[in-house]
Amino acid sequence: MKTICTVKAMAAWSAAHQREGVTIGLVPTMGALHAGHRALIRAARLSCDAVVVSLFVNPIQFGPTEDLSRYPRQLKADVALCKKEGVDVLFVPSASQIYPGGFQTMVIVPGIARRWEGARRPGHFAGVATVVTKLFAMVRPTAAFFGQKDFQQSALVKRLAEELNLGAKVIVYPTVREADGLAMSSRNVYLSKKQRTAAPALFQALQAGRAAIRTGVRSGAAIQKTMHAVVKREKMATVDYLAVCDPDTLQPLSRIRDRAVLLGAIRLGNVRLIDNLLVTC
Ligand code: PAJ
Repeated sequence: MKTICTVKAMAAWSAAHQREGVTIGLVPTMGALHAGHRALIRAARLSCDAVVVSLFVNPIQFGPTEDLSRYPRQLKADVALCKKEGVDVLFVPSASQIYPGGFQTMVIVPGIARRWEGARRPGHFAGVATVVTKLFAMVRPTAAFFGQKDFQQSALVKRLAEELNLGAKVIVYPTVREADGLAMSSRNVYLSKKQRTAAPALFQALQAGRAAIRTGVRSGAAIQKTMHAVVKREKMATVDYLAVCDPDTLQPLSRIRDRAVLLGAIRLGNVRLIDNLLVTC
């Protein structure tokens, strides 16, 4: 495995491989890799000739009161995981490589970023859209792999890749979960033992929403009520939002026709968890 730290070297590697007709799969990450990331790497490995994993804790997608300084960092373990999975290139740029002094261009996708995570984390999706656009420009992947775990993020990336003609196919991979249903996340290490026990309440709420849809309920409000009731049973948890939305626009649905995404965010103390379920009728 080759480790690349500069934008220039990354672009040169990609150009050389593209000239030879090699297909490149990109898995963008912020490190602290877990089984969810590993699944994306394996999907890339299966469908592309070469796999590039980027590891960059992107400062501009964190709000001023968020966890940038304490975001889990474990480079040694991440390198070992990537080697084991047969990754060809680990791209680990510094912040000054990605954002040289005076950097000012931002990418915004206002419609998709407006609600849910976007409303609670001002500037977050502009930070994500900007870094993803830059990574696509540097690596020029044939395909790029994102997790459904961050549903709004994956919807935004699909949209920007298409609308900016970035030329990469965006593949969205299903959420990888712990045995009790909790979606894997680098931030799960923030959970205390008690909070960890309460954490599956979010997935259980989404499952209850899905079960209601499967029994024929179509009213968004009724499904929301069902999901709220499940989180309410868990004393430690408070609901940030539980929503029934159109999977393409992320607008709330008052009535489900054929497809919906159930989006949820809860708080356990200072820890915020997000999850979602895609449901077809
Ligand atoms: P990060 O949180 O490290 O996640 C990297 C990728 O792994 C994202 O596409 C995310 O959706 C996916 N992922 C995380 N948990 C997953 C799970 N349990 N199952 C499946 N996939 C999962 O998301 C980011 O980094 C950043 O915003 C990034 C896209 C790298 C831009 O900075």
